[in-house]
Amino acid sequence: CFSHEIHLCSLIFPHFHINDEWPGYSLDLFSYPAHYSGDLDCVIVPHGVIMDRTERLARNIMDDLGDHDIVVLCVLKGGYQFCADLVDRIKVLSCNSNQTIPMRVHFIRLKSYLNDQSTEDLHIVGADDLSFLAGKNVLIVEGIVGTGKTMETLLKHVEAFRPKMIKVAGLLVKRVQNRSTCVPDFVGFEIPNRFVVGYALDYNEYFRDLNHICVISESGKKKYKI
Ligand code: HPA
Ligand code: MG
Repeated sequence: CFSHEIHLCSLIFPHFHINDEWPGYSLDLFSYPAHYSGDLDCVIVPHGVIMDRTERLARNIMDDLGDHDIVVLCVLKGGYQFCADLVDRIKVLSCNSNQTIPMRVHFIRLKSYLNDQSTEDLHIVGADDLSFLAGKNVLIVEGIVGTGKTMETLLKHVEAFRPKMIKVAGLLVKRVQNRSTCVPDFVGFEIPNRFVVGYALDYNEYFRDLNHICVISESGKKKYKI
């Protein structure tokens, strides 16, 4: 897809691969909000593992982009927690190594999901005037990439403002069939094609207040269905 692909594979980082057969961790092993009991099947990525992986992604990003200023483009709402934690880790590296990146952070909002289904109409809010991206290195930060269609649309939109470079960091990438060619440059975890929630990822706005990334249960889907 797009000129962005030129930059793909400039550095190859190993993937954290979660198998289709992986049953996840029992919810009884961790704490989580009592108001979600019965709504979840299992923990697929515990919060601590997310934080450890994010620390490493921050270093990968520094190694790859560390010699330029960057504009971080946080994709709300699902990307807010990952973006906050990732920017935090990059800040720590900027303080404690001789590599440092001046960062600006900007927020845009995308909405395309109703229940657990992607809808055709993608709304981008707060992206009308991104002209300040011209000539800049942009790091798009997303919580989850499914088919890649949302990312493709967003890349097209951002490219129109002529940034110097665009890289994408996605905490989760789902293994889906018919994936578009768009894959983030920095991937936290590659996961099975199941609907997951938590760590700012929602199901109809619920479950953002859950620290771990979990698989929603059938009864959870029913309970919060619109
Ligand atoms: N969970 C939450 N939001 C999403 C997902 C998911 O599995 N896939 C795409 N948006
Ligand atoms: Mg959502």
